[in-house]
Amino acid sequence: KRVKYKEEIVEKGGFPHFMLKEIYDIPLALVNSFTSLMEKYLSLASMIIYGAKNVYIIGNGTSLHAGLISSYYFSEIGINVNVVSAAEFPYYALDNISTGSVIVAISQSGETSDVIRSVKMAKQRGAVILGVTNSVGSRLALESNVYLPITAGPEMAVPATKTFTSTIIVLKTLSVYTGLHSGKNDKNDLINLKSEIEKLSKQLSTRLQEMEKEAENSVEKLDKESLYVSSSGINYPIALEGALKFKEASMTHAEGMQLGELLHGPIVLANKGYPIILIKPAEAEDLYNKVVKAVRDRGSIIITISDNDGDIRTVKTSRDLSPISNIIPLQLMAYKLGVRRGLPIDTPPGLVKAVII
Ligand code: AGP
Repeated sequence: KRVKYKEEIVEKGGFPHFMLKEIYDIPLALVNSFTSLMEKYLSLASMIIYGAKNVYIIGNGTSLHAGLISSYYFSEIGINVNVVSAAEFPYYALDNISTGSVIVAISQSGETSDVIRSVKMAKQRGAVILGVTNSVGSRLALESNVYLPITAGPEMAVPATKTFTSTIIVLKTLSVYTGLHSGKNDKNDLINLKSEIEKLSKQLSTRLQEMEKEAENSVEKLDKESLYVSSSGINYPIALEGALKFKEASMTHAEGMQLGELLHGPIVLANKGYPIILIKPAEAEDLYNKVVKAVRDRGSIIITISDNDGDIRTVKTSRDLSPISNIIPLQLMAYKLGVRRGLPIDTPPGLVKAVII
């Protein structure tokens, strides 16, 4: 028994839960994920995307949110992609799939049945499959024509953290390679991306403990039945992902939404004492200020996340990597709220790491 206990402590690296350990793994994982990508597979995958008749990005949950973020990267380089839940894909997208279609299938486990099912159906119709997975021997890796490894290291907690941030790195790098074909990017963009990732990784390492404290300080305000998380543009998927983390780790009802949409209905709940987490988007400060004023006037509890003046100060980085910087405080707050409630954070009741039904 004693040996078992000791082993468990070692596996968690001294952290009380895998989720917290895996959040602390993020800075190193970001660099590993970038450096582990092999040029020949990136070139091949990006060429396939560039030459595609149409591109569908599929995944579920956190992987779907990473896919949504990547749609901003691809649109920057003039490539239109459709991001669809792998659970919806067979019903609403299959008719558009034929020879020349490309499916970018994202799954950290590589075993999620919705993803495998959709991939098999798309293959039957002649699509090429680009897999993005953290598990090299998985069903997704086997079903893919080309696959890119996420290389975040094993993730034990059911609430995904480091695989999400590392998937973003993989997809951003893939988009820069694709931009080399369309002429929107050049080799300097790759060099800049590398140094931006290294800088972010370094600064996150030094800020993480402080961020953990700031998250802990905010958690009392969040200990309510329900809350909102909201942002805009490339950080809108972060609002969705943050809300998912609150559901999984702290069993709190949480809804993610776009900043402007908050004013179109959801604001009716935003009364005195209702917690709202707002992530400041660099590109839409006026919209952000308008929403902050509207919810403040109603007496809501506001917690802001920003790289300059937030209640939780994130690390300043490029627009494209800002989702990585902004998700970390949300992961930490969801974790701290779960701890405060004494919940089994790593294994939320009724939920498994890979949904294979
Ligand atoms: C993430 O925290 C969730 N556990 C869940 O939404 C997950 O992302 C989803 O089931 C997809 O898993 P996959 O990436 O292994 O395919």
